[in-house]
Amino acid sequence: MWKSKLLEFVKPFTHPAWGITHFQRVYELAIKLAEKQNLDVDSDSLFAAAYLHDIGAFEPYRQKGKDHSDVAIENCSEILLSINFPKDKNDLVKDIIRCHMFYVKPSDIKESIIFHDADTLDFMGTIGISRILAIVGKEDWTPDLKSAIFLIQKFHDELPLELYTAAAKEICNERMFEMKDFLAKLSQQTNNFELI
Ligand SMILES: [Fe+2]
Ligand SMILES: [Fe+2]
Repeated sequence: MWKSKLLEFVKPFTHPAWGITHFQRVYELAIKLAEKQNLDVDSDSLFAAAYLHDIGAFEPYRQKGKDHSDVAIENCSEILLSINFPKDKNDLVKDIIRCHMFYVKPSDIKESIIFHDADTLDFMGTIGISRILAIVGKEDWTPDLKSAIFLIQKFHDELPLELYTAAAKEICNERMFEMKDFLAKLSQQTNNFELI
């Protein structure tokens, strides 16, 4: 019951890079990583965190100068209470949200580690490229196409170092190949990115 209420609550949060479809992908990937790692995880907390972890990037929650993870943590208890989510799992949801970004070293809680890896993988490969290109001119990260291409290159070089599970590292290898291939072909076709 709380799951359908949560899905109803997040309906307005659409965005080409961090909206509902991203929430669902990260949940499904987190579950897949847990299975591959033979981890018995709390899927309820992963589900709740998946649909709430980026709400701090959306109005009316968004706060200038404050990390979207902190904003989501501040607001999630009230949302979880309103949908009758099991209260004893609130702290786990908050830890998962706190640790989700690639630039945060996750805690030693298994759900937080696999969720961190799932969210990081969504910045990689064909899906990662698609998300970054979708926000060109829309977000601070990517004022123009050239900056987006350099961000893809940066993610290709740096995100593999931010993964903690063997299962995620395996998926990362495939996704790095896709990024490398894309960047190599784009470089060829644009005189080493000069003509973008
Ligand atoms: Fe995020
Ligand atoms: Fe995310």
